[in-house]
Amino acid sequence: MKIEVMTGDITTLEVDAIVNAANCGLLGGGGVDGAIHRAAGKELFEECLKLVERLPEHRGYTGQAYLTKAGRLPCKYVIHTPGPVYRDGKHGEPELLAACYENSLRRAEEMRCTSIAFPCISTGVYGYPKEEAARIALKTVQAFSPVSLQRVVFCCFGAGDEAIYRRIINDESIM
Ligand code: APR
Repeated sequence: MKIEVMTGDITTLEVDAIVNAANCGLLGGGGVDGAIHRAAGKELFEECLKLVERLPEHRGYTGQAYLTKAGRLPCKYVIHTPGPVYRDGKHGEPELLAACYENSLRRAEEMRCTSIAFPCISTGVYGYPKEEAARIALKTVQAFSPVSLQRVVFCCFGAGDEAIYRRIINDESIM
């Protein structure tokens, strides 16, 4: 699997699936969640309403990943994954963040996706330290054994984030 790092707006990427750093309500919010819903249009909101209707408690769970169609976005699917809110790293946050990446990869594989793009999950409103989050993201993706996936894009929103990913990749020859 080829791993790419870039700085840009994930809503513009022509990959099979983009991942949304959602909340457990799964009906939109701020940050990248808001950007994805704005760009996708009301069709995505309607998809999310249908998704929430189907879920046992009509809500999502941190670390899980939920796939919908993508409305007006250039990608085929949006995978909504509620990341952990960072407290101190000792309340299961690392495991839950890793689960976001792992379960998103699984959802993409179930649809035979060949490419997927991730934002920096939980590092905005949810306050996850960027470097720790990037290490978890890279480690989880690198440990995954793909069947259909050939390309994983880490779509950072700021150059600072991209530099963090690149430093970890270079330092740890994680590739
Ligand atoms: N493209 C790519 N990345 C983006 C974009 C975009 N258009 N907009 C924001 N980001 C980046 C942020 O800069 C940050 O690095 O996404 C990362 C995740 O930040 P948030 O969107 O704040 O997500 P998170 O920290 O996981 O918090 C989730 O925030 O927006 C609400 O509804 C969301 O309640 C949920 C919570």
